[in-house]
Amino acid sequence: MTARILDGAALARSIRADMAQRAAALAGRGRPPGLAVILVGEDPASSVYVRNKVKDCEEVGIRSILDHLPVHTTQDSLLARIRQLNADPSVHGILVQLPLPPQIDAHTVIETISPAKDVDGFHVASAGALMTGQAGFLPCTPYGVMKMLEHAGAVLKGAEAVVVGRSNIVGKPQAMLLLQSDATVTICHSRTRDLAAHTRRADILVAAVGRMKMITGDMVKPGAIVIDVGMNRDAAGRLCGDVDFDAVREVASWITPVPGGVGPMTRAMLLVNTIEAAERAAA
Ligand code: GUN
Repeated sequence: MTARILDGAALARSIRADMAQRAAALAGRGRPPGLAVILVGEDPASSVYVRNKVKDCEEVGIRSILDHLPVHTTQDSLLARIRQLNADPSVHGILVQLPLPPQIDAHTVIETISPAKDVDGFHVASAGALMTGQAGFLPCTPYGVMKMLEHAGAVLKGAEAVVVGRSNIVGKPQAMLLLQSDATVTICHSRTRDLAAHTRRADILVAAVGRMKMITGDMVKPGAIVIDVGMNRDAAGRLCGDVDFDAVREVASWITPVPGGVGPMTRAMLLVNTIEAAERAAA
């Protein structure tokens, strides 16, 4: 079997088109959506991510406010800025790009963002809402993965889903979302014994580890849907995932490429969360 490609870039384009319509509707009611993005320091990867987020906002008609703060910014001044944005009714989403410089505690920063504007879905209130099935904001990457599974027509009810990775921003929320869709979920991690024994049972396999090509063809069940959240650089500097794409595509039924898979969907879901926040504020 050669897997079909789950084209995240194309799906993200159609989501952006939908968001552009919803942004225009909000603007038509005098409530244009706004996203504040805060970047502290000059981390090159973060600078690229932030630039892309601002560009995405422009494309769909979300007003973006970029705060680029110096690397020596104090935690107190960052918290003061967040409180100001919390109180600003023209700002519906607040995103503080991570990682932060060492003098700033990321946890304190995230908890200072109003849960109503937590479009990253990183606040404990958002995590708790997800855990208990309440309305909140979903972290963009696992949210995007669920949209991709839906697009592929994946039957999640009763399916064996295996998530490799247990981070707060991908692995754990991903497992919770799959559970909410009635999958039987296993979370694997660096201390898991016999990883392949678990991955080979998976109808849905989500790899979010950060280790290049660690999911090999023999670790995948024939016909599985394989989602690659990895973003690694090989020796030549090329972006590559956690999945050995060439080998696994001969086994799986669907597979996401890297680049062009989960990455564009993560970006698109930030726009979805921002529009959602603006619609809730306007309601
Ligand atoms: N750094 C890397 N990915 C992300 C993300 O999704 N959100 C934020 N705020 N920082 C990040």
